[in-house]
Amino acid sequence: MRFSKTIFSLGLFFCKPLKIKIMATQNNNQDMPNGHLHELFVDELRDILGAERQLLKGLKKLSTAAGSESLKTAFDTHYTQTEGQIERLKQVFSSIGLSARGKKCKAMEGLLEEADEIVESFQDQPEVLDAALISAAQKVEHYEIASYGCLVTYAKLMEHSEAKELLAATLAEEKDTDSLLTEIAMTEANTGAAV
Ligand SMILES: [Fe+2]
Repeated sequence: MRFSKTIFSLGLFFCKPLKIKIMATQNNNQDMPNGHLHELFVDELRDILGAERQLLKGLKKLSTAAGSESLKTAFDTHYTQTEGQIERLKQVFSSIGLSARGKKCKAMEGLLEEADEIVESFQDQPEVLDAALISAAQKVEHYEIASYGCLVTYAKLMEHSEAKELLAATLAEEKDTDSLLTEIAMTEANTGAAV
């Protein structure tokens, strides 16, 4: 009786630290300052990393389909920028002590599916195809602008200054790309489609 009581007490002694350790792991993010915002920040980072990787393939298709040289160049330039943005995201993950892991972005998947449909629907109408491609590409850019805009705000709130700078640099590139697409639309593509 006495022996089994001792065994029971020893069991409790050894199990206690293990139990505390498990609880600490489970509550890790919630217990840290800004824990819930941190979780959202990381989730959004993974989404946009996945989105950028998916977009690389999409930009190749858009560039191949584009009729005007300036539009083709805009898509090719943005392809190179997107590669740089992926590297920047890896630096953001590293700046907060995490390894870079993306996840499939369902929004980007849908936007790129629509872009494919647009190419299919208008490939026999070159006078309108470029306008349609710009419309599809700007929907992508606006999704990215919304994502990076939120990420910059979260990084600022949590005082992740390095992450904030990196994300703000990408946000500026996305806005520039959007403006360039508007310029091509206004000076070439839309006017060509309206004739
Ligand atoms: Fe991007």
